[in-house]
Amino acid sequence: MALTDRTRIALIGGGKMGEAIMGGWIAASEHPADRLTAANFTVANPGEERRVYLQGRYGVACVADARAIEGADVVVLAVKPQVMMGVLEQIAEVPAYVGGKDGPLFVSIAAGLCTERLEGALPAGARLVRTMPNTPLLVGAGATTVAGGAQADEADVALVRDLFACLGAAYVIDEDDMDATGAVSGSGPAYVAALIEALRDGGAAQGLEAGLAEALAQQTVYGTALLMRETGQDAQTTRVAVCSPGGSTLAALAAMEEAGFARSLDAGVAAAVFRSKELGQC
Ligand SMILES: NC(=O)c1ccc[n+]([C@@H]2O[C@H](COP(=O)([O-])OP(=O)(O)OC[C@H]3O[C@@H](n4cnc5c(N)ncnc54)[C@H](OP(=O)(O)O)[C@@H]3O)[C@@H](O)[C@H]2O)c1
Repeated sequence: MALTDRTRIALIGGGKMGEAIMGGWIAASEHPADRLTAANFTVANPGEERRVYLQGRYGVACVADARAIEGADVVVLAVKPQVMMGVLEQIAEVPAYVGGKDGPLFVSIAAGLCTERLEGALPAGARLVRTMPNTPLLVGAGATTVAGGAQADEADVALVRDLFACLGAAYVIDEDDMDATGAVSGSGPAYVAALIEALRDGGAAQGLEAGLAEALAQQTVYGTALLMRETGQDAQTTRVAVCSPGGSTLAALAAMEEAGFARSLDAGVAAAVFRSKELGQC
């Protein structure tokens, strides 16, 4: 399916992530196809305050109930996982929403809900693509993984990948790897923020003012990621480049390793995978 200025996109859930995705697509200068504008979107969101805000800020049409959006070509499911199944039951009542090529392409951003479970609640044969974005998507620097369900074809998956690539980076993966990618990039912003907090506290323990230490740590994380991206340098090269023999950085890394730095991250990623499998119920 190609996007055109007539493509109708239903956004179900105009919350934090839904707004960022829609706002990013409207603002993106490059697109998989024609530019998307506010006219392409209708948002379903129960809270009136949110609808008034989205209407005012983006000029998009808003409705209270997902059932009011008839005949969308793409349906982005951006509600919380715990309300998702109820929303899918409502959607399944909409006569225009059939499975296969005549029906819409469904795109889920819900954490932990596998395609099999979502497809089971959608009209038979529905084409579904599951994604796992992360919060830096809010500023156009997201990392999103994308996996197709049983009925989605390669073009459906490629379209969703290209759409999310407008909001940062996007990678097509096997759904079996979704929990692991969630544990790396989905939860990753929390680990990076924890690293910044720990560096702040470490700096403060050495007498730095905490605000300055946090600003330095934050800029260092940002700058290091940018350096690696701009130069194409991998993590190991970037690390080694800062370490002079017998110097303070090597001393720091040795002390961190001794305290279990890499081991603790490895354990954290494994714990996130374990917990998301427990929650996924597939
Ligand atoms: N935040 C993250 O880090 C992150 C990362 C990756 C993926 N995700 C996924 O993104 C999804 C959305 O998360 P979020 O952080 O954007 O949550 P959010 O800000 O709470 O947004 C959810 C929105 O869904 C609306 N909603 C509730 N029931 C609805 C219904 N029946 N029909 C239509 N809309 C309905 C809510 O409206 P009301 O407030 O009016 O009830 C709210 O605006 C979740 O599935 C989450 O797993 C989040």
